[in-house]
Amino acid sequence: MASVGIVGMGSYVPPHEMTNEDWADIVDTSDEWITTKTGMKKRRIADPGVSTSDLAVEACKIAIEDAGLEASDIDMIILATSSPDVPLSSTAGIVQDKLGCTDCAAFDINAVCAGWVHALDVGSRYVATPGYDNVLVVGSEIYSRILNWDDRTTCVLFGDGAGAAVISKVESGRGILGSWLLSDGSGSSVIEIPAGGVRTPIPSEGFVEGMQYFHMDGRAVWDFAIEAFPQAVRGVLDRVGKSLDDVDLIIPHQANINIIEAGMKNLGLPMSKTFTNLHKYGNTAGASVPIALKEAVDEGLVGPGSLIVTAAFGGGLAWGANAIVL
Ligand SMILES: CC(C)(COP(=O)(O)OP(=O)(O)OC[C@H]1O[C@@H](n2cnc3c(N)ncnc32)[C@H](O)[C@@H]1OP(=O)(O)O)[C@@H](O)C(=O)NCCC(=O)NCCS
Repeated sequence: MASVGIVGMGSYVPPHEMTNEDWADIVDTSDEWITTKTGMKKRRIADPGVSTSDLAVEACKIAIEDAGLEASDIDMIILATSSPDVPLSSTAGIVQDKLGCTDCAAFDINAVCAGWVHALDVGSRYVATPGYDNVLVVGSEIYSRILNWDDRTTCVLFGDGAGAAVISKVESGRGILGSWLLSDGSGSSVIEIPAGGVRTPIPSEGFVEGMQYFHMDGRAVWDFAIEAFPQAVRGVLDRVGKSLDDVDLIIPHQANINIIEAGMKNLGLPMSKTFTNLHKYGNTAGASVPIALKEAVDEGLVGPGSLIVTAAFGGGLAWGANAIVL
């Protein structure tokens, strides 16, 4: 198969910043608890009237320009989100219309926090075969709208944002070497929005106020994540014939600094081999990996020829990793 790689990146976070202290004015929490338990200090919150598609469009515009392309050059948009503009139709289609990409396929992927690593794998397979030269792979989320702002166990953990990559054919020796993806649907209720789908419509006999919001068994997610993160890293390296020693930087899903530290320890790697920005943005779910990857590149931590491994885990349960030579 042809080599497929990232040829442009973009990210966007809304301007409104919310600190731990701001949350302490709303729910019974503290900067000390949030910092110790998660490493988060701030997160961005989208203004009313701004949609997930709007954040995606901003990130996509930057990525398209970074790739030296026009919107009309994009053949497909794959949007990873678990906080879509509407349950139906796809948010990718709304992004396509706002960007003005005609003659272009568009669809959403929902693998929650692991959505973008899934989308990158799917997109790379399209680019490798005839018909789709330039694919936009986007992660965009507005979790502030799906969280229960009265539930301190979840509301402080997330932020809003978007990240995007344009992928195209590249010279051999670089690009997306491979991916490793896995799901365990027996854990689907560990992270879920219990109502609003066909199982429990709103309203319905089974609906209880609060079920329309994000729910999470934090301890169960912790137990899953500290194993899933290193498993995904090892899984993809094994698949592409590389070792941990070959890796320049690991870009993990920005869920929690303690999960990342436990995972890096499990891998036997120092924290200098990873990149984190969750102290600034919280957990932006499906957007966290592309936002972090873009920042790591912008900060000069990695560049052309670097081997990076993205690794993400979350609702589904779904987890996975990509090995990429920039
Ligand atoms: C969520 C998480 C930080 C909670 O940490 P924890 O050590 O498991 O804490 P617990 O849930 O046991 O709660 C400990 C106490 O803190 C309290 N607490 C929960 N949220 C709080 C908050 N925001 N502020 C203050 N106290 C809080 C709990 O009510 C509990 O109080 P209690 O002992 O009186 O009952 C941790 O479980 C975690 O990181 N899980 C993974 C979550 C994640 O990454 N999700 C995204 C996956 S993509």
